Amino acid sequence: MPFGHGKVILFGEHGVVHGRPALALAVERGAEVTAAPSTNGVTTLHIEPWNVDVDAGAGPNEGREPLQRALQTARALYDDDIELALTAHVRLPSGAGMGSSAALGVAVLRAMDEARGTLHSNDEIYERSLSWERVFHGNPSGVDNAMAAHGGMAVFKKGEPLKRIVARRRVRVVAGYSGVGSSTKDMVASVGRAYTKDPERVGKIFDGMAAIVSNGRLALEQGDMKSLGQLMTLNQRLLAALMLSTDAIEEMIEHALKAGALGAKVTGAGGGGCMIALVDSDAQKEAVKAALSALGRTVYDVESGPS
Ligand code: PMV
Repeated sequence: MPFGHGKVILFGEHGVVHGRPALALAVERGAEVTAAPSTNGVTTLHIEPWNVDVDAGAGPNEGREPLQRALQTARALYDDDIELALTAHVRLPSGAGMGSSAALGVAVLRAMDEARGTLHSNDEIYERSLSWERVFHGNPSGVDNAMAAHGGMAVFKKGEPLKRIVARRRVRVVAGYSGVGSSTKDMVASVGRAYTKDPERVGKIFDGMAAIVSNGRLALEQGDMKSLGQLMTLNQRLLAALMLSTDAIEEMIEHALKAGALGAKVTGAGGGGCMIALVDSDAQKEAVKAALSALGRTVYDVESGPS
């Protein structure tokens, strides 16, 4: 079934918007989209579990304008008269730093391809899905789309080919949703303003994150989970210095670390959304999940595939 992966960013969010690398892990859960012929002459999209309906027609879809624009953008990539009724199942929280909009965009484009008997490569799907993502995120780095299209684990840097990572050990994280969504567009804009105001300080923070990405990649290749965890916690300090953490996220991080996580941080845009905690055994995973659940948070298991 046409699918787009969700993702978590292990290191480097925000710096990646400003030309630094980020290291991300695709999530096995994501968005699935099926297509049937449209019955009303216009391409439509129904999204579960949000119970949202939009169409790519010219008439207004009140309250759903960004999604309608995104669907229109996707439809406009095809120069034909094939109109589809698309149904999506999104198995990710929205506005939570897990890449739900990119996963949906990639799955929609794959479903549109499949219904036409066309097949674009992962790289082409990545490129084609960027205009969808721009509707929601303004100035996306592209990391979410790259992971949604390719899956796996990789270092992403704008304008460079994706560098796949072969990790020595399986990476296991627990993602915890703070219960508060955040706008990636707003968070990216606020970091952008801070960068313009104080390029030296913020540039140094981005450079620090870039160094963490390099070291994180080495730790993954060497299977050094302890260092990987420490690097995550270090990355969190830099994100907090950019005002991207929240009380709820800090509380979750503290409880996850007390429960035995090897490291923990915000993932994605911050200002709400999700945190992630690195675990390295079933016992650690269950303890961290229990600690976050006790705070009333929704938790998700994220694991890299075998590599
Ligand atoms: O959309 P989110 O919350 O998963 O965040 C994506 C990561 C950012 O670096 C904050 C934005 C981007 O475009 O890379």
